[in-house]
Amino acid sequence: MPTTRHASAGILSDKLADKRQEIVELLTRAYWMEMETVMSYLANASNLDGIRADEIAEALHADVQEELGHARRFAKRIKELYGTTPGSLQFTPEQTYLQPPEDTTDVVTVIKGVIEAEAGAIEHYTRIIEACDGVDWATQDMVIDVLRDEEGHMRTFERYLKEFE
Ligand SMILES: [Fe+2]
Ligand SMILES: [Fe+2]
Repeated sequence: MPTTRHASAGILSDKLADKRQEIVELLTRAYWMEMETVMSYLANASNLDGIRADEIAEALHADVQEELGHARRFAKRIKELYGTTPGSLQFTPEQTYLQPPEDTTDVVTVIKGVIEAEAGAIEHYTRIIEACDGVDWATQDMVIDVLRDEEGHMRTFERYLKEFE
């Protein structure tokens, strides 16, 4: 009789169920961070006024697509690890520093908010990469890829900031 079984090796194996749960929780947090970043970047990109703000807004609009792509990758991996991507009612916002400034030409506040968000992502994704070490190579590989994007975003906005300081 054929039987269904789980993989005997790797993160899908029964013996790594606890570790898998831990990684799903880390990925879920990453998913929410990306989703909130999509909202914040889209709002700020739409609200900014002025010639100097134009390029920043354009960069943010482009990043919205990338961050949404990251959220999609996290959701896909959560499912692969037998987890469930949460619905919107479980969302708790955290990005106080990325609320659109009252002065819609205040590019510096927006740039600093973006750097803060990217730094937070880099810190959390580094934690995931460490948690996956030796137990979940596929998640680790994916998150390293995403980490590279966030490091790129952070450097881009650090370089924008130079012009204003
Ligand atoms: Fe991202
Ligand atoms: Fe990013």
